Amino acid sequence: MDQHEYIAVIDFGSQFAHLIARRIRQHNVLAKIFTPDTPVHEYKDAKGVILSGGPRSTIDESAINYDRGVFKLGVPILGLCYGHQLIAQHFGGTVEKGKTKEYGQATLHINDKSDIFQDLSNEERVWMSHWDVVGTAPADFEVIGSTKDCEVAAMRNVTENIWSFQYHLEVHHTEHGMKMLENFLFNICQVSADWSIAAIEDEIIKEIQDVVGAKKHVFLLVSGGVDSTVAFALLEKALGKSRVYGLHVDNGFMRHRETTKVAVALKKAGFTNLHVVDTGARFLRAVQGVIDPEEKRKIIGELFVEIANEEMTKIDLDKYLLGQGTIYPDTIESGGTQHADKIKTHHNRVDLIQEMINQGKVIEPLKDLYKDEVREIGKRFKIAPSLLNRHPFPGPGLAIRTLCSDGDNEIEDRDAINAKLAEIILDSGLDLKAAVLPMKSVGVQGDERSYKHPVVIAGKATWKQLNDLSVRITNEVFMVNRVLWLIDPKTISADAHMHERYLTKDRLDLLRVADDIVMTKIKEHEVFADIWQFPVVLVPFGDPKTNGESIVLRPIQSQEAMTVNYYNMPRPVLTDIKRELKKVAFIDYIFYDITHKPPATIEWE
Ligand code: XMP
Repeated sequence: MDQHEYIAVIDFGSQFAHLIARRIRQHNVLAKIFTPDTPVHEYKDAKGVILSGGPRSTIDESAINYDRGVFKLGVPILGLCYGHQLIAQHFGGTVEKGKTKEYGQATLHINDKSDIFQDLSNEERVWMSHWDVVGTAPADFEVIGSTKDCEVAAMRNVTENIWSFQYHLEVHHTEHGMKMLENFLFNICQVSADWSIAAIEDEIIKEIQDVVGAKKHVFLLVSGGVDSTVAFALLEKALGKSRVYGLHVDNGFMRHRETTKVAVALKKAGFTNLHVVDTGARFLRAVQGVIDPEEKRKIIGELFVEIANEEMTKIDLDKYLLGQGTIYPDTIESGGTQHADKIKTHHNRVDLIQEMINQGKVIEPLKDLYKDEVREIGKRFKIAPSLLNRHPFPGPGLAIRTLCSDGDNEIEDRDAINAKLAEIILDSGLDLKAAVLPMKSVGVQGDERSYKHPVVIAGKATWKQLNDLSVRITNEVFMVNRVLWLIDPKTISADAHMHERYLTKDRLDLLRVADDIVMTKIKEHEVFADIWQFPVVLVPFGDPKTNGESIVLRPIQSQEAMTVNYYNMPRPVLTDIKRELKKVAFIDYIFYDITHKPPATIEWE
């Protein structure tokens, strides 16, 4: 990649750091993230440094160690929230616990409108989220902005080239945060705006051609996700069709017509050297009779490895480099992405792939890009928006959304749980019913994975009431890890139970139909983009006379899947989804998952 001027973002809390980096890039300026302990000489040529916000405190044992040499670099520095407090502390100001946790919108009164506040108003709406505050600014700093609850909300020391804000300029709720950032980038750092998608695309293509050389070829596993699809398109554009071998392993756990959609979308955009191996029957045989989620995952992961190995031995590997769709956040060490790496391991750990990585025979064309930049390139390649804007989808696909059971209906402590639930409902004063159900799902409580029963709530309630109840139940009834809301019908019959069911094509097809209804409806109602991910889960819980099953709706909102809120769906959308799902034979019950993560996970298995 050609040399670009860049801003270094020091990561004191990964979600904030990534958001800042993306905002900088939206100004066509390259931003690179560094961990706090990175020696400053590694970013000494940065045109400016931003110290990010983060969840820790600078004044207790959780404080993060960092290279203080950053203050001697001589380039402009901007501290945000945690970064603001760090600067105050370093230069002799005080940081203390605030009287209250300040959270939400505040009005910033600005008393100097040169440099960073140029072209802004005397009062600006900003967004705060903090407990600690800067009590007194360091002696040689000027306070340039205050809010009602925060005297030192913005300060600067022009001689030292330092600015810092208590509020978060990177979030949308800070109305003119982008303008403040623009002032920092161009008035203060004077960095060049040369990070445009068109330029990057050309550079990536040139880099692929250089690395691969004139003779070699590239082998790429194309999952159907945005990253591998765009990586495939870039490689084909750089090297021509005959030199890129794209392989999609269809494991039979894809959504309705998904494999075809990926192939068609790529073909339409002019990329055709995609090979599909249909291995659905093999995968289904391998998981026959399996109930335990982890065992299911392990079998699927291992079979994927076996098939990828088989396919790779069919080509002359000496001629090949391995392409991977790794993107920038995957290469940055932080809490969120460590987790993401872990869950993806089975798909990247094919023996031959590992060997090629060890030999340096790997090319990652997207390694410097964020997802939105990858999508931008995808758009330039005319890949269908429906494919570029997909929700994330797990490797084992619908296999981990189709729960299996040997028909066990035992619930340890059933009476104790139900008694505690009755107490909580009574205390809430709401006209609701609650009971524990016999299925189990995975959760994450503390750092531990849990495998427990859910509770169902039936009756009319607002989202707020449901949320409060859900939080209370999972906090107080430790034998459960999830709370469901019964959508249809109004009550559960006394003889409803878990049927003995395993993974079969029929059940996968039933789930595919339900999932397709849900996906179609959320697009129709234009709420697709408000939802980060939406598992639709099939549970073999139903009435004996119908032999039917249950569907659980699990729409969530999140930044990077580590912490998650369930989504408060507009009621008309929910009603419409319910109406369509009810038309499908063999669906007895429809539930809505109202659990955050933690204590539940996004997926049920
Ligand atoms: P959980 O359920 O742990 O999921 O909250 C977090 C994110 O990871 C995805 N996920 C997987 N992705 N292989 C994958 O490629 C897997 O085995 C797997 N399990 C979970 C999940 O869909 C969510 O986005």
